[in-house]
Amino acid sequence: MVNSGNRGSVSSSVGGTPAPEPRQGMPSTGSPGLDWRTNFRPDIPSAARVYDYLLGGKDNYPVDRELARSMMAKLPNVRTAAQWNRAFLQRVVRYLVGEIGIRQIIDIGAGLPSVGNTHEVAFDVARDARVVYVDHDPVVLAHGRDMLQGIRNAVIIEHDLLEPEAILADPVLTKLIDFSEPALLMFLGILHFVSDDADPADLITRLHAPFPSGSHVAISHATSDATPEVRDVGRDFDRATEQVHIRTRAEVLDLAAGLEPVPPGLVWLPEWRPDPGTDMPGNVTESYVCALVATKP
Ligand SMILES: C[S@@+](CC[C@H](N)C(=O)[O-])C[C@H]1O[C@@H](n2cnc3c(N)ncnc32)[C@H](O)[C@@H]1O
Repeated sequence: MVNSGNRGSVSSSVGGTPAPEPRQGMPSTGSPGLDWRTNFRPDIPSAARVYDYLLGGKDNYPVDRELARSMMAKLPNVRTAAQWNRAFLQRVVRYLVGEIGIRQIIDIGAGLPSVGNTHEVAFDVARDARVVYVDHDPVVLAHGRDMLQGIRNAVIIEHDLLEPEAILADPVLTKLIDFSEPALLMFLGILHFVSDDADPADLITRLHAPFPSGSHVAISHATSDATPEVRDVGRDFDRATEQVHIRTRAEVLDLAAGLEPVPPGLVWLPEWRPDPGTDMPGNVTESYVCALVATKP
């Protein structure tokens, strides 16, 4: 099973750890020396674990549940919205693997294992698909490695989205991914954790740069365009492992500059190629998240 580095283990032994240099985006937690990326930190809410709670998962702690409940008070539909995001993920993978013929996927910001994970959906459609998950959260990495043990053609590697070249050069990735073949790069629920200073559009460009025309990028991103309270929730994350950077729908579209939106373009989560026969909910803007798939011309 994959072990792409020595920083991916979840450790409950945190005492005496020397203070690491803080990395970009790392919040001040009041506990210097205990970088959440290298030490298990159940005392700081983590984006992955909050999302796990919203989805009804079990890999979360009181601080995560507290933040999630604060979200639920401000955004009453947020748990349903999280389910809608997972359903979007599944429709994207089914469409691109099943109808477009994509066979290799890099899913950046994998999140904790849930129902209908990317590799499960892809393998259901095409057993020869290959999936590389990327994340920087030690709990995600531990559970992801566990989930993927003994599974061929699906791996999880420890990297930060802010370092695209390191992701692309990882020998575990290069063993599965062929740069001469179109790929699907997934950025679901992750780009709103990237500041403008880190230039998310450029990160996306650098990640799809080595892949040929016909490659695709999938994005889901929180926006306050229809619900201003989304910005207040963003502020709750100031004390979490990742901070939130809400964007307008126009700004989200700009993240895919140079790519051609796949119909129906930028829409609210439930509106992206709904399964035939699905009733469209009346409150699609209460997904709080917009969705886009775009292709490399
Ligand atoms: C809300 S979850 C989304 C999970 C999944 N993509 C989905 O949409 O269902 C966001 C994930 O992105 C990861 N993440 C956030 N910032 C990241 C970064 N800079 N590099 C790598 N992973 C990151 C978090 O650890 C978390 O697992």
